[in-house]
Amino acid sequence: MSLQVIILAAGKGTRMRSALPKVMQPLAGQPLLHHVIVAARKLGAERPIVVYGHGGDVVQQAFAEQALDWVLQAEQKGTGHAVQVALPVLAAQGRTLILYGDVPLISVATLQRLIEVVPNDQSLGLLTVHLPDPTGYGRIVREQGRVVRIVEQKDATADEKLISEANTGILCVPNALLHAWLPQLKNNNAQGEYYLTDLIGMATANGVPVTAVHPDTIWEVEGVNDKLQLSALERVWQRHQAEQLMRAGVTVLDPARLDIRGQVSHGMDVSLDAGVILEGRVVLGDNVSVGAGCILKDCEIGAGTEIKPYSLIDSAVVGANAHIGPFARLRPGSKLADEVHIGNFVETKATIMGVGSKANHLAYLGDSEIGRGVNIGAGTITCNYDGANKHKTTIGDDAFIGTNNSLVAPVTIGAGATTGAGSTISKNVPDAQLAVARAVQKTIEGWQRPRKAPKV
Ligand code: UD1
Ligand code: CA
Repeated sequence: MSLQVIILAAGKGTRMRSALPKVMQPLAGQPLLHHVIVAARKLGAERPIVVYGHGGDVVQQAFAEQALDWVLQAEQKGTGHAVQVALPVLAAQGRTLILYGDVPLISVATLQRLIEVVPNDQSLGLLTVHLPDPTGYGRIVREQGRVVRIVEQKDATADEKLISEANTGILCVPNALLHAWLPQLKNNNAQGEYYLTDLIGMATANGVPVTAVHPDTIWEVEGVNDKLQLSALERVWQRHQAEQLMRAGVTVLDPARLDIRGQVSHGMDVSLDAGVILEGRVVLGDNVSVGAGCILKDCEIGAGTEIKPYSLIDSAVVGANAHIGPFARLRPGSKLADEVHIGNFVETKATIMGVGSKANHLAYLGDSEIGRGVNIGAGTITCNYDGANKHKTTIGDDAFIGTNNSLVAPVTIGAGATTGAGSTISKNVPDAQLAVARAVQKTIEGWQRPRKAPKV
């Protein structure tokens, strides 16, 4: 049977106390809704259906590039009503999985098991969980072991409130049954809402068996209503990711102080020290070590490279056996070859450096193409910006740039050339020559340093 996925996301999320709609709040660097859409796609849903209400524009804009069917639920009249408004985009046949925009960590494996219990139109799958404290949740009422209905907390009798099996809200229903039963929902309950959960009672009345499936972990089915729950789930997810990395052989010095906001792929014997943040798509080769407090975003680091503490790398490629940092900043478009050394307080931007080149201290290298075996002296700056345009600096192989140079772009330093310390280089330097561009030192005879007047 084909599969459609509906994601309910019309709630206001008042308890977030934020201008940002709840499903746009970030977890692991991505909106809550993003995580649910990813799960839906992994299950094979080509156009997940998002039922939206509050803050719809912001949400739609954020996901404008994605193949989604948006359905407006202008007024929130309950979960059953939310699915009802999506009926026009539901096929007559097939099955539909109902997910929640604020339950971000639901696992694909669990959902797969849930879908499997709905092979035909005479079956219904419900994801339930036994909770130590199920207060607030709908309770699963069973008779002779079989699920017969769900009762909401607000409608439950004292006995029903003692039931520990709770409704996660996630369920899989044949489309034929949704088309037949949703229009029959009534709102004669404590909240005056159309309850999706009433489908379970209808299944029982119609002799359709309901199969309960349980998630592998409780956190998979936890929802986010406020910033406390958001941070709790963030920590759970970060811990889970750190554990996955450790199982795959990565040394994580403190799993409580590693944050992954994206996808990491890695070789063997990678080591991540405390306080590391990895964002976007990060690729780490064999034996890469990342020091404390580093932030790596959308980058590729070659085998054996050491990133020393407190370095920032964004949209850059670093070769093998390089040394970066401490306190280095590699900005977008930096492409550093094998064995490059970038030391403290060195910034690179849109800069290519050849094998073995070094900038060990206090430099800015922007819009530059630097050959192999080049040494950039401490304090060197490429003056790449004239106030309107960016210009290129080219430095040939084995050049030696003296300390504290200003390289006024556009400018080319030839291969094997040398520049004197303190030079302002604004003209091209030929290969293998020495250029010195600084004032000649003078001695001023008889000069007296100013003195303070004696105190009276
Ligand atoms: C619902 C279930 C309850 C379950 C609990 C799990 C019903 C009647 N009850 O209760 O059995 O234990 O979830 O968390 O289904 N939403 C809409 N439109 C609406 C109403 C809700 O899109 O008109 C969305 C909300 O944005 C939210 C989700 O559906 O993401 C659940 O709604 P909520 O009101 O929180 O349901 P509960 O009362 O918690
Ligand atoms: Ca409710």
